[in-house]
Amino acid sequence: MNETEVQSFWNAHPCGDHIVGGLHGAFADDYESFFASYDAWRYDQEGHIPACLDRTDWRDKKVLEIGLGQGAESEQLIRRGARWSGLDLTSESVDRVKARLAIRDLPHDEVRQGSALEIPWPDDTFDIVFSHGVLHHIPDIATAQAEIHRVLKPGGTLVAMLYARSSLNYQVSIRVVRRAVLAAAYPLRRTKLARSSDMLRQHLDNAQRVGLRRYLNLESFTHRSTDGPLNPFARVYDEGDVRRDFRDFELVESYQRYLHAPPLPVHRRGDGSKLGWHLWVTLRARS
Ligand SMILES: C[S@@+](CC[C@H](N)C(=O)[O-])C[C@H]1O[C@@H](n2cnc3c(N)ncnc32)[C@H](O)[C@@H]1O
Repeated sequence: MNETEVQSFWNAHPCGDHIVGGLHGAFADDYESFFASYDAWRYDQEGHIPACLDRTDWRDKKVLEIGLGQGAESEQLIRRGARWSGLDLTSESVDRVKARLAIRDLPHDEVRQGSALEIPWPDDTFDIVFSHGVLHHIPDIATAQAEIHRVLKPGGTLVAMLYARSSLNYQVSIRVVRRAVLAAAYPLRRTKLARSSDMLRQHLDNAQRVGLRRYLNLESFTHRSTDGPLNPFARVYDEGDVRRDFRDFELVESYQRYLHAPPLPVHRRGDGSKLGWHLWVTLRARS
């Protein structure tokens, strides 16, 4: 797994773009209407996010956000008083976020294109690093967490959302239901019915390429089951995994939100859930 593969995926599939119709598609590059629709969808679907952000005091803190997507939380952090800078691997996300900040006249420091594996800022620069839905997509997490530690001031804070291992989505939907559905659909992979859904078709094509048994291996199936079947890499976390992978940090707080486990018919937005798919963690940099 190399970073170029991860970068091409996110450049071609900017986070959430297709769900609201596509900035360069249905919105025909009307950035303001696109951002308005995207944020309305996002904070309806993931209505817990503002309250999670409010657990941290951002005011006047020097904040680096890693992995920007459409910049929805970038705006939220700036509106909460952060002295914000942003970093993303892809030019597509960087261009979109720069446009959002300009159109909405949001004060900020800098937006740069680059990788969490080589953060283009000097040592001891930030009070807080924020990263929502990103670090679980980085294969070399050991290097990424060391880089985050390097750019944080001593005792600085990392606030991150990681996919949760102890979640309904992982333990039931991904591990059991989706694998069973795929195994059942595999013999029908050339039929019109199996090819009528994009998602099922892509899974079946993946399985055909590497062999069904290998494709259903839990680790590799997880990569393909969080952000669509073309996503090259994802892992899940519980507190033990966090302590193992973020060894330059102390775990201060962790909690789960967002009970969401397609195709199971459950979706709970705002409140906490021990089985929620999103594991929010606060970590303090060790000295
Ligand atoms: C799933 S999206 C999350 C975006 C946003 N934070 C959100 O929650 O919608 C992942 C983002 O992280 C970026 N990304 C992935 N790997 C990265 C890396 N190594 N360094 C910086 N950004 C990265 C991708 O380009 C993409 O914009």
